[in-house]
Amino acid sequence: MVVRGSAYSLRYLTQDDAPALFQLGSDPDVTRFFSWGPYREQAEAEAFIASLGEQRERGERLEFGIFRNGRLIGITGLSDFSQRDRRAVIGTWLGRSHWGSGANRESKALVLAMAFRALGLNRVTALASPQNVRSIAALQRLGFVHEGVLRGWHIHAGTPRDVAVLRILRDEWERTPLAEVPVEIEGSYSQRK
Ligand SMILES: CC(C)(COP(=O)(O)OP(=O)(O)OC[C@H]1O[C@@H](n2cnc3c(N)ncnc32)[C@H](O)[C@@H]1OP(=O)(O)O)[C@@H](O)C(=O)NCCC(=O)NCCS
Repeated sequence: MVVRGSAYSLRYLTQDDAPALFQLGSDPDVTRFFSWGPYREQAEAEAFIASLGEQRERGERLEFGIFRNGRLIGITGLSDFSQRDRRAVIGTWLGRSHWGSGANRESKALVLAMAFRALGLNRVTALASPQNVRSIAALQRLGFVHEGVLRGWHIHAGTPRDVAVLRILRDEWERTPLAEVPVEIEGSYSQRK
């Protein structure tokens, strides 16, 4: 699948993207709230890219590079699909120099159009560290609703961590300006799960 907006587009990563991905993911500001990183070696970016094809095939994860003028600027996509319940989890990270640039807004508009229009989902969930106030604020200003905090949801480096849960339902998305963003979707994704 390829998803195109006016300034940004989403496509699957290939090994040719590994050097740029390594650069973006080797910044500790970017990976501060993540279970991984910062990248120390390009091989870590290569291994991440290599894992994506199979996860896509298994219907588990649909991850894209975010590109502007052909340049990789971040990663976004969907994971934790439930086909029965027509929901998935959205995630995004951008290179530090692209924070506050509008890339987050457009890339979210692209993923949500794909999720609700092309994949027929009914709910998209976003999970964030409760300390990641920037991420939570960014989600809320786009129309995501903060539902609460799950205690001890996952373990990072041996320490249990809480997670903030935000959601956007299809009908909520339809009422946001994000649904008006022009999006062109090429190809399709069928889950074998
Ligand atoms: C999360 C991320 C994708 C958001 O993209 P972004 O371009 O930085 O977000 P935006 O600039 O659109 O929105 C951020 C909002 O948070 C606000 N904000 C920033 N720092 C804040 C703080 N300390 N407290 C409260 N609000 C804050 C900004 O003012 C802005 O809101 P506004 O435009 O209404 O003023 C990006 O910051 C990123 O990649 N971070 C690192 C990876 C990450 O944490 N990903 C999310 C995992 S859940």
